[in-house]
Amino acid sequence: LIAEVQDAAKLLVSKQRICILTGAGISAESGIPTFRDKQTGLWENYKAEDLATPEAFSRDPALVWSWYQWRRKLVANKKPNPAHKALAYWQRRARANHQQLTLITQNVDDLHEQAGSIVTHLHGNLALNRCNQCQTPYKSTSDNLHSSEVLHSSDVDAIDAEALITCSHCDGYIRPDIVWFGESLPVQAWQTAEEAAADCEMFISIGTSSLVYPAAGLSQLAKQNGAKVIEINPNPTPNTIVDIIIKEKAGLIMPLLVKQITGS
Ligand code: NAD
Ligand code: APR
Repeated sequence: LIAEVQDAAKLLVSKQRICILTGAGISAESGIPTFRDKQTGLWENYKAEDLATPEAFSRDPALVWSWYQWRRKLVANKKPNPAHKALAYWQRRARANHQQLTLITQNVDDLHEQAGSIVTHLHGNLALNRCNQCQTPYKSTSDNLHSSEVLHSSDVDAIDAEALITCSHCDGYIRPDIVWFGESLPVQAWQTAEEAAADCEMFISIGTSSLVYPAAGLSQLAKQNGAKVIEINPNPTPNTIVDIIIKEKAGLIMPLLVKQITGS
């Protein structure tokens, strides 16, 4: 394990452009279940894949809305873990080390932001809402609802009080501002990710099962452009083009790796 971390650090320390893609696994140690984890409680008979779709929302908007209220409750009081913190520290130190660190996430939680990272969300942000029809961003009427990208528990109570909400500009319903299965990714976010992956010298994939496209194709794009690929995941993934696989939890590895690279 230490050997892989040292090998990875040796590769990384001299590189200028580094692209990092995170998935649900980086938030697992903060207590947020991953996508492929079995759901619990009220939602144990439902699969995320069946609820996170435009069809599910048009069929039963109230059900999908209440599922996301439950997911917001799961996320609202969670804190960044050592993996998020190590990444934020490294990103801050990167400028001094003449390294450009581009952080891309598939996650809809705000733990990278809470840790102080600058991050691009490929699949949106659970703290934000919009109209499903006219796409107008939705800010709750209750004045205590923060419009920031970070989800506060008071937000959830405020939104919770409002069951299914109809849009004030059209007869559409309010939905979470995230990307559902079958929907296209936000154009700007995807462009940022493609450019960073195509331009980087090192690509690090942390805590993603690499099952869902187009995010799962970014490491291939980096590889095609001569980058080396590092994967940090305790379980195997279908990603076959990885140069260094570190089969361990992100919360353990990231602080070790960043210490090796930045010296502190
Ligand atoms: P998919 O196979 O439908 O592809 C995702 C979408 O990305 C496609 O509909 C397409 O519009 C777009 N896309 C594909 N390749 C692209 C490219 N090269 N450039 C630009 N856009 C491209 O994926 P899916 O498994 O049906 O899921 C759709 C998206 O929704 C995925 O990114 C998935 O991770 C995301 N999702 C998010 C949540 C959530 O709650 N955050 C839940 C489920 C799915
Ligand atoms: N450290 C690192 N990786 C971990 C940890 C950990 N502590 N715990 C779990 N993992 C790994 C698992 O082995 C798994 O491969 O994280 C991965 C989580 O995979 P998924 O649940 O599939 O989450 P993700 O890869 O982010 O899903 C991609 O698909 O469902 C859609 O939009 C949704 O963004 C999501 C996308």
